Amino acid sequence: MTPSFENLLVTGGCGFIGANFIRHLLHETGFSGRIVNLDLLTYAGNPENLAGVAEDFPDQYVFVHGDVADEATVEAVFDAHRVDAVCHLAAESHVDRSILSPEEFLRTNVTGTFRLLEAARRRGVRFHHVSTDEVYGSLVTGLATEQTPYRPASPYAASKAASDHLVRAYHATYGLFATISNCSNNFGPYQFPEKLIPLMILRALLGQELPVYGDGKNVRDWLHVTDHCRALWEVLVRGQAGETYNVGGGEQLDNLAVVRQICALVDEAAGPLASGPRENLVRFVPDRPGHDFRYALSVEKIRAELGVAPRETFEAALAKTVAWYLENPAWVARVESGEYREWIKANYEGREKGAS
Ligand code: NAD
Ligand code: DAU
Repeated sequence: MTPSFENLLVTGGCGFIGANFIRHLLHETGFSGRIVNLDLLTYAGNPENLAGVAEDFPDQYVFVHGDVADEATVEAVFDAHRVDAVCHLAAESHVDRSILSPEEFLRTNVTGTFRLLEAARRRGVRFHHVSTDEVYGSLVTGLATEQTPYRPASPYAASKAASDHLVRAYHATYGLFATISNCSNNFGPYQFPEKLIPLMILRALLGQELPVYGDGKNVRDWLHVTDHCRALWEVLVRGQAGETYNVGGGEQLDNLAVVRQICALVDEAAGPLASGPRENLVRFVPDRPGHDFRYALSVEKIRAELGVAPRETFEAALAKTVAWYLENPAWVARVESGEYREWIKANYEGREKGAS
């Protein structure tokens, strides 16, 4: 289906999912319009995640260094690039960081979403909000559907819940063409190694201890990032105004099982350690405060209405992901040393934020 828009604003395009999504748009969808990537380049924003894109697609891709919570920046971007659709991914995304310092989460995730909604409603621009299954809170049994009441437990989840509510309010009150997707845990290339899977891959490779929170029995529903990207594109193009779509992998695993699989894959790829299998590196550490026990999503709606279902299996996608981290030591080294931030300074420091 041909999209109804030509100038798509992607926020947070230098992050993990944003970078995968921009690559997906350019390589897999046939989208011939322009992509404007608005990103503040926080610790999680790494322009190297999009290496080659500006050179390979000079007429289709433009980067703007700026803050979604800054009104003047957002207004200028909408006008300068004649934005006619938004896929909003920019966020503070890590639960542990939200526990240590929640304020940035409210500013970016809530105020940032509000600024974008205001700009979109003034111009009648289609708006998609990329959200999380964490808004439904921990489930004892069963699956969360799009009707499940919100019960966010962490400051991160509460900030995403607040932004979801704002998006719905803008649809109900102002008639904004808005959609939301609530997705489960993603993994794949370019994920910052603070999240469970890349953290465990890199620590296992180095023979470092593997910190598993609590007893490792917490359950997450894992989805390879390319399956998320396909779902986002379908919702952007064919999603119905005011609708919410769950996106998940249907692969529920406890954390210990995930870490054990990673250990086995790294043992196989890198050879065993002298001290024995990497599984021996697992250390049970104090639990995350308020740690949600289990997430699990019903993805029946997006399958029935938009024909979207995951193509990757967890096992095969995890093997590919381990291989990617092992095959990209230069990316890993620059992320771990913080060197990529030097690159950002050299390229963007002193330039006006909000200018392209
Ligand atoms: P990420 O942390 O890897 O990337 C976030 C990006 O947003 C970075 O490039 C960062 O520089 C940018 N950013 C942060 N604050 C900004 C601001 N004020 N203005 C402009 N840009 C800013 O995050 P991710 O894992 O790629 O997640 C992307 C989105 O998907 C988030 O909205 C997150 O809530 C949602 N989500 C993530 C997952 C997951 O498993 N990672 C699952 C479901 C939903
Ligand atoms: O469910 C979707 C969410 O998934 C997204 O909205 C978030 O942006 C994303 O960060 C992710 O949140 P989680 O908290 O589930 O992901 P994380 O990778 O931080 O942790 C996954 C599980 O692993 C969780 O139960 C905590 C546990 N864990 C995590 C780390 C970093 C450990 O046991 N040890 C660790 O060192």
